[in-house]
Amino acid sequence: MMASARTVNAIEWRDDTLWLLDQRALPLEELWISHPDTEAVVNSIRDMVVRGAPAIGITAAYGVVIAARNRLEQSGDNWMRALSEDFEALAQSRPTAVNLFWALGQMQKILSKLNQEEDPVVQLLREAKRIHEADLAANHTMGNLGASLIAHYKMPAPGVITHCNTGSLATGGYGTALGVIRSAWQQKLIERVFADETRPWWQGSRLTAWELMQDGIPVTLTADSVAATLMQQGRVSWVIVGADRIAANGDVANKIGTYNLAVLAKHHGVRFMVVAPTSTFDLSISSGVDIPIEERDGHEVLEVKGVRMAPENAQAYNPVFDVTPAQLIDAIVTEKGVIEKPSADSVASLMADRQLH
Ligand code: MRU
Repeated sequence: MMASARTVNAIEWRDDTLWLLDQRALPLEELWISHPDTEAVVNSIRDMVVRGAPAIGITAAYGVVIAARNRLEQSGDNWMRALSEDFEALAQSRPTAVNLFWALGQMQKILSKLNQEEDPVVQLLREAKRIHEADLAANHTMGNLGASLIAHYKMPAPGVITHCNTGSLATGGYGTALGVIRSAWQQKLIERVFADETRPWWQGSRLTAWELMQDGIPVTLTADSVAATLMQQGRVSWVIVGADRIAANGDVANKIGTYNLAVLAKHHGVRFMVVAPTSTFDLSISSGVDIPIEERDGHEVLEVKGVRMAPENAQAYNPVFDVTPAQLIDAIVTEKGVIEKPSADSVASLMADRQLH
């Protein structure tokens, strides 16, 4: 069943430019920011105006459109050479989510086979919109596949835990893990979502709770450290999370704290589901050890909204992603199908199918 609920948008192409909903201001304010040039797009990705792996990829694709339009105006015949600087700047904006590099690769493919009869900007915009729409469609497919998996195993307990924000704000719309949760809730498979607040950036409390409450899906916020207790109390059947990069052996990089949940889930016999489109797989990386993990400034740990929470001169370590080994994952749900007990072989066959299309 395709969910019909219209969810919030984080990314819009309107009035010939890119608009992003400023996720730093949510849930208190809904501010939209327009993007006249590459620098603005790079800043928005780096500073988390937009965040979430698929959303970053879609944003970068629109960023290439804006960059190409500016380069055509400024650099004339040399525009393509000049544009490589924009690709480089966009690629430097954040390191872990591979969807960013995947989307830049898709845009590069269009550039390498431009139709000389048509405006290049029109051709690039068509591709950016296709990437955006394909992500939304993939989310709905994953929502159905993930909900079917939940139905298949039955739910001994009525709750699920999710981490970070994987909803409409993090994607082309609807969501990856949150898309599965939306579909499963519509099918009456889930009664309650426990959303980790997701320190240090609070994606769970500021974004996931906001999205779920807009949809009327029952959500309870918890501190990240409550997950073990919820499992011990027998209140959850699944942990359902997204991914920023999946290595060829099925190891998954996702928001810091995901690995903790996977270890806890294994101990308590709770199932662990990762939901991600195939654009999140990186077959050039054989295992999670080689996934680049972003470290952000310590002030995100030491302060909350500019208010100091630690002694002056205290040191902070702020890796914002971790790697969950494939052995701890029960299923990876993609738009091409579900892999249970992921391994190098099952990832390879899933991705081989993808290359046929
Ligand atoms: O630092 P963020 O907010 O960009 O991290 C986002 C996550 O880790 C999400 O879980 C992941 O991108 C999957 S979103 C569909």
